[in-house]
Amino acid sequence: MRKKVTKAIFPVAGMGTRFLPATKSVPKEIMTLVDRPLVQYAIDEARAAGIKEFIFVTSRGKGALEDYFDLAPQLEQELRKKGKTELLEILKSTNMDSGAIAYVRQHKALGLGHAVWCARRLIGNEPFAVMLPDDVIAAEKPCLQQMVEAYAETGGNMVAAMEVAPERASSYGVLDISEDDGELVKVKGMVEKPPAGEAPSNLAVIGRYILSPSVLQHLNKMKSGSGGEIQLTDAIAQDIENENNVHGYRFRGQRFDCGSKSGFLQATVSFGLAREELRDDLRTYLKSIMLDGDT
Ligand code: G1P
Repeated sequence: MRKKVTKAIFPVAGMGTRFLPATKSVPKEIMTLVDRPLVQYAIDEARAAGIKEFIFVTSRGKGALEDYFDLAPQLEQELRKKGKTELLEILKSTNMDSGAIAYVRQHKALGLGHAVWCARRLIGNEPFAVMLPDDVIAAEKPCLQQMVEAYAETGGNMVAAMEVAPERASSYGVLDISEDDGELVKVKGMVEKPPAGEAPSNLAVIGRYILSPSVLQHLNKMKSGSGGEIQLTDAIAQDIENENNVHGYRFRGQRFDCGSKSGFLQATVSFGLAREELRDDLRTYLKSIMLDGDT
């Protein structure tokens, strides 16, 4: 029997400079998509996939993120007193079990691979997930759950994958493919942020991973790669040489790059339209400004 994936690492140490000045005092992961912080979407997706332990790799200035996961007994009491049961339920759905969350500090900004490595002692010798909360994925079945199901067949390592325009490939980790079955692709190599025109395919890695503990061992010895940072992509690629398989998984769903302003705005509109109580107003407004734009 394959070991179940019950631990997930959330690298949240980045400074979020693209969202300055907001991120001067608010961690990027707490920024709000409709009415929930970005990180809540990642937590909900992880829970749906059976994750029980949530490991955050943080840095200086992320206090608000830790506070967010605290219980809010006073607020709960207030809502109960006022009979606001719906809000109470929403609030309770964000509560985490005691001991389910751990925080590890990344002391130096040495890259995604280094951030994941910082959590190595909490992972031990088990497969684990990595989720980048900037990548928000709207899907009927949450993306990580789709991957956990596919992983039950493949084992090894699995990365979420999505076709991107060739001119965008140099912003991503890109897969070099040996077999393509549609949903699953077998990977023979991976390149982090390839220079323009040198990408081995246009299938990009999106921020969901299921990884073998051996990847952590490669990270132990990893030298800096693309952009002078220690890259997770390079450590996963190294596992192929160790004859541990790597699969790309073409997930069903729509991915928003909430690490960019434009992606964040698109996600806000799309998640807003998906909410029954907001849909009509928002649609009327969007239609009205589109008409204005035509004149
Ligand atoms: C990271 C990874 C990259 C991946 C991307 C997905 O890059 O290093 O391989 O394609 O996330 O969002 P970043 O966007 O943090 O530069």
